[in-house]
Amino acid sequence: MNHQTAFLIGFMGSGKTSLGKRAANQLGWEFVDLDHWIEAKVGKTVPVIFEEMGESAFRDMEREALEALSEPAQTPRLISCGGGTPCYGDNMALINRLGTSVYLRQRLGILTQRLTQQRAGRPMLSAVPADELPTFIRELLTKREPYYLQAHHVLSDEELTVAGIVGALQGRSLS
Ligand code: S3P
Repeated sequence: MNHQTAFLIGFMGSGKTSLGKRAANQLGWEFVDLDHWIEAKVGKTVPVIFEEMGESAFRDMEREALEALSEPAQTPRLISCGGGTPCYGDNMALINRLGTSVYLRQRLGILTQRLTQQRAGRPMLSAVPADELPTFIRELLTKREPYYLQAHHVLSDEELTVAGIVGALQGRSLS
């Protein structure tokens, strides 16, 4: 049987993994973090993949991961994407074809505050000088939002909770 698949998308630091794990737990769904899935498959961490193989190799791996995860699953699953996943090639169209997408639309100020403190392990940010980080984040978010906003559900402000995600996913019936 082809079970339900859902995707959490959004900028780095928007809470995809932390809220996603708890939402999946509440729904009784499997939780898959796309970065961790790639790391397990390749046997290297995301920062090492960026450093040794380059960003474009990582983007190819993200696409392959999405395609692999499009195989019918045994149980429903919630897949937390990397911040850049929907923004390359036709990944966003693929995501929307494969399941229900939910954009965690976190405010720029919160993202900037979080990412200033949590830059380690994020290769997109590690080379950016601290004083340029707010501008870099604002500009990258502006470029990425048109992709994120194609999601089936856009959650912001008080909807950015485990209950908000669960509600969005339960409100939309698939297959
Ligand atoms: C990236 C976000 C990261 C990870 C990689 C690239 C990006 O995931 O996929 O470092 O391009 O925004 P998180 O959004 O989980 O930090």
